[in-house]
Formats: sequence, C-alpha cells, structure tokens
Amino acid sequence: MKNECSANAEDNVVTDCAKREISLDHNRRRINYLRLSVTDRCNLRCIYCVPEEGIQFQPHSEILTYEEMLRIVRLCVRSGIRKVRLAGGEPLVRRGILPFIENLCKIEHLQEIAMTTNGVLLKEYARDLRRSGLRCINVSMDTLNSERYRQITRGGSFEQVWEGIEEAEEAGLDPVKINVVAMKGVNDDEVLDFASLTYRKPYHVRFIELMPIGEANARVKGIFVSGDEIFRQIRSLGPVRYVPSGRLDGPASMCALEGARGRIGVIAALSHHFCKTCNRLRLTADGHLRGCLFSDRETDLKTPMREGKDDDHLLDLIENTILKKPKDHGLVLHKQQRKCVRPMNGIGG
Ligand code: GTP
Ligand code: 5AD
Ligand code: SF4
Repeated sequence: MKNECSANAEDNVVTDCAKREISLDHNRRRINYLRLSVTDRCNLRCIYCVPEEGIQFQPHSEILTYEEMLRIVRLCVRSGIRKVRLAGGEPLVRRGILPFIENLCKIEHLQEIAMTTNGVLLKEYARDLRRSGLRCINVSMDTLNSERYRQITRGGSFEQVWEGIEEAEEAGLDPVKINVVAMKGVNDDEVLDFASLTYRKPYHVRFIELMPIGEANARVKGIFVSGDEIFRQIRSLGPVRYVPSGRLDGPASMCALEGARGRIGVIAALSHHFCKTCNRLRLTADGHLRGCLFSDRETDLKTPMREGKDDDHLLDLIENTILKKPKDHGLVLHKQQRKCVRPMNGIGG
C-alpha cells in the first residue's frame, strides 16, 4: 500500500519543492491537502447546507469522470499534494467509488486518502472502504437525538448512521471522526453529551462553527455558537490535554479529556480563523480548482482537459492556483457576508 506516511516521502516533497519552487503559495503556506468533491448530489438535505426543494444539481456530463479526477490528482501530487479527502455532496452516492479509491491508493507519493460522508450508506460500505485502502473517515452527525437528526437532515435516520459509525470502527477505519456543526437552539445543549461520548468510544468528536455558506448564510447570525463557548463547556467536564495537529491535518484544534478513549476538536473557522496555516486546495465535482472555500475565484481544469491540453499546461494552471491562493477568507463575525456563488454541496466543505 502506497498511502502511508514516511519520512522519505516527505523529504521528497521538500526536494521537489526546492527544485521546482512549487507547493508554497504567495503567503509561504505549504499546500499539501486536496479536498475532492466527487459529486454534488446527496441523499440528505441538511438545513444549513441545501434548500428543502429545488436544488440544482449539475448534469452528469459536467461532472468529471473518475479518469479525469485521477489525472488531476496525479498532477496535484506533482505539485506537492500529499493528502486527498473525498467529499461531496455525499461521496458514497457516486457509483464506482471503491475502484476509484483503489486507483487513488496506487498514486505514488500520495500518503493519505480520507473521506467525509454523511454516513447514510456507511454500514453497507465500511468494510469495502477499508479493503479499498481508505484508512480513516469523517462522519457528519449533528445530534445524538433521533427526532432532531430527522429534522436537521430533513428525513435522515440517526440509527442508520450510528450503525454505520460503529461498523466503520469495527472495520478498522481509524480514526472515526464525528463532525458536529454547533447551532444555538438546535443542538448546543448536546455539547457535553458529544464530549462524553469520547469516554466510551475512541472517536474524534469535532465541533464546527457554523459558516456563512449555503443555506447557513442567512441564518448564521442568529444561531452561531463560538468555539470558545464550546471549549468552556468541555472544560466543565474535567481537565483537558491539548493534542498537537499532524502535518497533513485539517483545521481542528484538538484536545482530550483525562481518561477518555477519544478526542475532542473544535473547528473555529470564523472566530479564530486558521487561514494563516491553511494547507488546502479544493477540486469541485465539475472540475474547478478553488484556492479557498469562500472564494469563487476558480480555475477551470475541465475545459482545457477536454480540449486535449497536455499535462504541462494543466500543471501550470494548478501551480498558478496554488500561488494565488487567497490570503484569508475575509469574513467578519456577525456581519453580513458576501455570498459564494457555488453552494456548499458543490464544493465539498
Ligand atoms: P481532517 O483534518 O483531514 O480530518 O479534515 P477536516 O476536518 O478538514 O475535514 P472535514 O471534511 O471533516 O471538515 C470539517 C469541517 O471543517 C467542515 O465544516 C469543513 O467545511 C471545514 N473545513 C475544512 N477545511 C477548511 C478550510 O480550509 N477552511 C474553512 N473555513 N473550513 C474548512
Ligand atoms: N458550516 C460549517 N460546516 C458545514 N458543513 C456543511 N455546511 C456547513 C456550514 N455552513 C459541514 C458538514 C460536513 C462537512 C463537510 O462540512 O456538516 O461535516
Ligand atoms: Fe448533504 Fe453534507 Fe450538505 Fe448535509 S451537509 S446536505 S450531508 S452535502
């Protein structure tokens, strides 16, 4: 299996980097993490993400084929990418995802392949995902209450997703991370229940500040819960130990309660933004490379690829997008935000 971290592989990045002066952006950030949206479709309709009805999905012909995605990932790896996170919409609704993961695992120098899923299909897929080479999984689960889960996801089954999470643990996906988007008056009374889950289970529970994107854009002011507020509640459970982040990790600040099997994280994208250390690029399902979640400045890779442009041409476009990655998201807490044209389910979070 190629996707394992090794000191040598990392040395190669440094060498490549120094030789070709790539993978560092204008702000000297090392860009090593690609979030890849494999589809904009989803089998849930979470209240903060998409409208209840009338979502416009992209026609299939506009979505990259797996072969096209593999080509772009290979080129991104030449530009310094070492980790790929598969996202959606919901990645497990796209047919052929398992062989795609197997093929990703064969890409030399790609050290980590991960996935973020809503967990609806996880029970069915967990063992095959592990067999295909996936090591870890992030699952969105905003409440531990069945009725609330149905409301937040507009129809999803808590029990089904919970069984999926347990199946993922048994299948050896490690760590299993649970994403909880914190919302005042919706689920903020569950912070301690989620935190206490880490005493019983080895999961990483991460609380996420609601970001003004997708359906959340209009509601964020009224229901925002800050990372500081969440940490304050967690500390009431007892002493916490801070856990440093790894080189290929995303933006969560991690800690662990004394005696807990799992960890707790907070992703404070608004109140303590982490743009200074952002290591990420995003590829949308329709083949556009984005430097920042919140910036609609995108590079179209699909059109030149379908026009038959060669690898060097595409590599230039990728490296230029890395170089010009926005310095930060420029959002201000509790102020009206500019709106991204592309919805969250089309970006992959
Ligand atoms: P790992 O550290 O690899 O587990 O990834 P992650 O936590 O970044 O991935 P996940 O898909 O679970 O995302 C968790 C939350 O972090 C989601 O709400 C994402 O939208 C958010 N997120 C991830 N990367 C960024 C980023 O670069 N900027 C912002 N603002 N939010 C991000
Ligand atoms: N703010 C914060 N997180 C969000 N997610 C989706 N929309 C938002 C938002 N507006 C989360 C999902 C999933 C991850 C990919 O992004 O819950 O866990
Ligand atoms: Fe689907 Fe994820 Fe959006 Fe929920 S947050 S509707 S699971 S894409």
